[in-house]
Amino acid sequence: MYRKLIQPILFALSIERAHRLVMHLLRLAGSIPGGRWLLRKCWAIRHPSLEREVFGIRFPNPIGLAAGFDTDAEAIREFAALGFGFVEVGTVTPRPQEGNPRPRVFRLTKDHAIINRLGLPNQGLEQMIERLRRPRNGVIVGCSIGRNTSTPSADAAGDYLRLFRNLYQYADYFTVNVSCDNGYCEASAHTTDHLLRILTPLFEFRRGQNQYRPILLKIAPDLSDEEIDRITDLVVDTPLDGIVATNGTHLRQGLRTSRESLDHIGSGRLSGAPLRRRSLEVVRRIRQRAGAEYPIIGVGGVMSPADVQEMLDAGASLVQLYTGYVYEGPSLVKQACRQLIDTRRNPAPATPTLSATTEAPAAPPEPHATETTEEKRS
Ligand code: FNR
Repeated sequence: MYRKLIQPILFALSIERAHRLVMHLLRLAGSIPGGRWLLRKCWAIRHPSLEREVFGIRFPNPIGLAAGFDTDAEAIREFAALGFGFVEVGTVTPRPQEGNPRPRVFRLTKDHAIINRLGLPNQGLEQMIERLRRPRNGVIVGCSIGRNTSTPSADAAGDYLRLFRNLYQYADYFTVNVSCDNGYCEASAHTTDHLLRILTPLFEFRRGQNQYRPILLKIAPDLSDEEIDRITDLVVDTPLDGIVATNGTHLRQGLRTSRESLDHIGSGRLSGAPLRRRSLEVVRRIRQRAGAEYPIIGVGGVMSPADVQEMLDAGASLVQLYTGYVYEGPSLVKQACRQLIDTRRNPAPATPTLSATTEAPAAPPEPHATETTEEKRS
């Protein structure tokens, strides 16, 4: 239904307008009595074999919404009702900011991709606290934190600490987003010194708290393999709880979209199908180097249930979606969950698995997944 009916309407609008409309409709659904219940009935699947325990948190399923979709935490419970096992809100910065001038997000429909140079527009820390304070019925929420664009790089650590300290009690885990808006500063944002300057105060603050909040680092796909190895070695030696791999890429290789259109669009991070190969490579590389137990959230180019499985097979403990959700809609999460249940019931012939998760015991063969609509698989 999404591909035939809803996607054409949304794709007739600019991507930012379509996004605002979707968020508005979701909030509306959430405000109507029984609205979330209906969404859950239609889209969410609960089954013991979907559950995963990662960095000390039990997730109802391993598929989450990636950062930047529900930036200001407006519809957390609605996304959970649509079947997501967790929602990563943000990236939030201490002060609200507008982001870059429009247009700044573009669909590349031929490539099933998006280019964005949003520049982290968000409503800021105070609004985020307000939203995360609201009851959320146990929905697992990660919070992506970043620095204000106007904060000089040398003072970045202060922004991260301020966000972490003030949001500590309101989120289940935190992701440190160090990425910058153009490709040139990517390498310097990921140097050991820069990362430790940001992360060390967060570790110190956490040490004094009664509750433990996992801290993850989100990395760019454009780092060289050596840089990824260096970061992996660094983070496994620190109290960092995991890596989110990856953000969008600044590269433009192998696209069907014409060079002319790409030149017209200009700079920005490319996400979606063309990113898949690289994000899988990065996840595989981290998994091999960090060992079987290290938590990795795999994100980038996950466009189908098979991609979800491939990302998990590459070593991801959890998976996140962004562009795949824009192109495929809510049935992607539902179908992926079904496929994961089926794979559990009929496992492929033994291959060595590397998993950082403590998974629920294999599902008994007889019960069906808890779902209410028998939606046709397409
Ligand atoms: C993003 N992404 C992102 N990531 C992040 O850490 N903070 C953010 O605020 C945003 N904002 C954002 C906006 C838009 C329009 C897009 C398309 C993406 C990156 C996102 O979370 C994800 O890492 C990449 O998009 C790769 O995944 P997909 O889209 O290929 O599934």
